[in-house]
Amino acid sequence: MAAAPADRIDALRALIRHHEERYYVHDAPEIADAEFDALVRELRDLESARPDLVTADSPTQRVSGRPAEGFATAEHLRPMLSLDNAYTDEELDAFDERVRKGLGTDGPTDGPVHYVAELKIDGLSIAVTYEDGVFSRGVTRGDGVFGEDVSSNVRTIQSIPLRLKSAPDGRLEVRGEIYLPRAAFERLNESREADAEPLFANPRNAAAGTLRNLDPSLVASRGLRAFFYHAVREEQVGSRESGVGSRGDDPDAPTDGLPSTQGALMEALAAWGLPVEKHWRHCEGIEAVKAFCASWAQTRQQLPFDTDGIVIKVDRREERRRLGFTSKFPRWATAYKFPAQQATTRLIRIDVQVGRTGAVTPLAVLAPVLLAGSTIQYATLHNEEEIRRKDIRPGDEVLLEKGGDVIPKIVMPILAHRPEGLPPFVMPAACPVCASTLERPEDEVVWRCPNPSCPARLRRSLEHFAGRRAMNIDGLGEALVDKLVALELVRDFADLYHLTVETLADLKFEAQPRTPKAAADAPARVLTPRRFGEKSAGALVAQIDNSRRNELWRLIFGLGVRHVGERGAQALAEAFGTMDVMAGATVEQLQAVPDIGPVVAASVRRFFDARETQRLIARLAAAGVHMGTPVAEGRGPRPLEGRSIVLTGTLSTMSRDEATERLTALGARVAGSVSKKTSLVIAGEDAGSKLIKARELGITVADEAALQRLLGDPSQWPSGNP
Ligand code: IVH
Repeated sequence: MAAAPADRIDALRALIRHHEERYYVHDAPEIADAEFDALVRELRDLESARPDLVTADSPTQRVSGRPAEGFATAEHLRPMLSLDNAYTDEELDAFDERVRKGLGTDGPTDGPVHYVAELKIDGLSIAVTYEDGVFSRGVTRGDGVFGEDVSSNVRTIQSIPLRLKSAPDGRLEVRGEIYLPRAAFERLNESREADAEPLFANPRNAAAGTLRNLDPSLVASRGLRAFFYHAVREEQVGSRESGVGSRGDDPDAPTDGLPSTQGALMEALAAWGLPVEKHWRHCEGIEAVKAFCASWAQTRQQLPFDTDGIVIKVDRREERRRLGFTSKFPRWATAYKFPAQQATTRLIRIDVQVGRTGAVTPLAVLAPVLLAGSTIQYATLHNEEEIRRKDIRPGDEVLLEKGGDVIPKIVMPILAHRPEGLPPFVMPAACPVCASTLERPEDEVVWRCPNPSCPARLRRSLEHFAGRRAMNIDGLGEALVDKLVALELVRDFADLYHLTVETLADLKFEAQPRTPKAAADAPARVLTPRRFGEKSAGALVAQIDNSRRNELWRLIFGLGVRHVGERGAQALAEAFGTMDVMAGATVEQLQAVPDIGPVVAASVRRFFDARETQRLIARLAAAGVHMGTPVAEGRGPRPLEGRSIVLTGTLSTMSRDEATERLTALGARVAGSVSKKTSLVIAGEDAGSKLIKARELGITVADEAALQRLLGDPSQWPSGNP
């Protein structure tokens, strides 16, 4: 029996509040945007049928979002409104109809409405204020009336000018979207994975998390960007209109001095030096708008950033003024949302994979299906808990979605199609690779294989050890690692250093069909095994040999000590100089190292206390792997001891790595971000946020020539800003 409207309304409100909090406050949504929008729509529909049940605190009665704690609250010059949504061509037609009616141009002989269509950037709205062309503050949307003052973070975003090239006098507020380009998002998640930190679900969440971080130097390092599309300015004559309304006898002469059409505003924003997304178009009539939407629904995947739709705006401000606003939205604009990229397919089975730390994660194996241009065969199912919550069972038909356009996820099973008596998924009790009984600490959701020599853990550990960011052994890919482990040619990292050209050259690989189509065709073709060969073997042995001379931090990171990421490994190497000294350090000594907290220190101590570790390190040393240079000996005088130096921008006479190495050799600590403790900032070409931060903190800034002088004669410490 269907729930009574009042009950359903209550249930929807509770659900929406819950998901709003996940999204806006914690930046950790549990459902796709389309699912959330559907809940809001259902509530709005029920409320419009039963206005007597509408309450002031219903989620439909406010703009959305709320300020998080930690930043000062700031009031917007005018409320920052959101947009109504359209999901189909019919809804676009209905929008156009409302606009034409509102303007009184809905007769058969009236011409089409002039629209501007822009990409809807999937980021966070921001309002940036300039006073006489100089940046004065950046505020998030918050609840639309009050936002968070995130100026210190916005200042670090390089594409937001601190001074406009030209702009109207007085106070100007420009509005736009802050986003994280996909490439920067992928880099960020890669490094978080290496540091064993939780991953961001998509670029939008990463941008939101970053913008609200309380450390501006961290924000500066993440590569946020912005696009602007709107401007607000105080009017000379009082006006009741919000946004860009104009007053006076001549409707084409707005009193705020801003351009009289959206198209001209976009051009003006760009001329002032602000970043403007360049694919916007004039569209004469709704048919042109629909064609624009349809074409971007296909091509948006090629953009370097995420878009979730198209924003359609009436071009002329005079027409906007006549259309006005509802209580929540402008009547002159709407957001067309791209259809969610969904498909259904059969879940063949759920496999479990064992990672380098022993974490066992389920993997959905799917009947191949085409989704947003690629064939999908696998989807991640983060843990057992998620499978249970969504009630996903092997054999189900499932709805797949490319959320944030990265890894596809299973939204839900299609219950109506579930075969009768389909049993639920049961997590295996034993490791699928080494058969050890899996363990799960009470407060964790992840099951682990406890066996440190589990071949699956060994395979993933070897891949990590050889990785670009660790020992950087090019050519030691997944297939080769699998083979070496399966043949027991490699049982630990040290075995790699005993591989010979002869052994490697003779390895044979079954040719793998590369695509599902090739796999389907495979029986028709004979796939002959491929020999690794002398040439590849020789190249790999040379790569392995080279890695013997790597800097110590690469080895420390490659060993895969729990909680020790790349940065931690660098700090440890710098502090202790050699593996021996580090292995002998007490928890207190470890914790005294910058960036090393109690959890990491305890983990490092535990690692070195293990008998297997001691054996492994001894075997690596015997194989000639560099174990570091003592901090106290083997180095010249250390005249820069105790100084903390930050490098920024591009150097022309040496690489940053070389500069770091030479400064470190003189005893300096080369840090990644500017703080009060920084002694000197060396700024090369195109230095950005770190330079700004240094100036703000009054830290001495030197150029490359001064760096050269310093390296030649460390007593030449630069004084004051050159
Ligand atoms: S116009 C009153 N233009 O989408 C006019 N918004 O769903 C308000 N957005 O709150 C916005 N790209 O955060 C506009 N080209 C664009 C946009 C855009 C992204 C965001 C913005 C807005 C939300 C509405």
